[in-house]
Amino acid sequence: MTYVIAQPCVDIKDRACVSECPVDCIYEGARTLYINPAECVDCHACEPVCPVEAIFHEDDLPRHWAHYLAVNAEYFDESAAPARARRDAVGDHPVVAALPPQSGPHKKEISFFTARKEEAADADLWFPS
Ligand code: F3S
Ligand code: F3S
Repeated sequence: MTYVIAQPCVDIKDRACVSECPVDCIYEGARTLYINPAECVDCHACEPVCPVEAIFHEDDLPRHWAHYLAVNAEYFDESAAPARARRDAVGDHPVVAALPPQSGPHKKEISFFTARKEEAADADLWFPS
């Protein structure tokens, strides 16, 4: 059994999980971090500290992120030569490397700010000074 880092970590990389892990089995790629299933002792310490809820027990992975069990495992699979070559080239598992830029909380703040600006413009329209 292992814990798994899924897509919400991509382009966020908060790293709070790293300092919680007692066996140092969370490794950093270019766009996300990966848990080595051969080293994870299933202690659960990492899961509650992730601010974007990217970490799941393998039995609890949402269906749409179920492939992240393999993504984490294959990242450390030295026998998967083609995957390793691509990983070394881009610093990530190919599935992660192929993702478009992921929006983060900062982008939500920006869009919120934009909406507020539009509201202000509307107010000027309806209530000209
Ligand atoms: Fe990623 Fe969450 Fe760890 S964003 S680096 S899994 S704390
Ligand atoms: Fe480490 Fe989380 Fe496993 S803290 S041991 S990766 S459950």
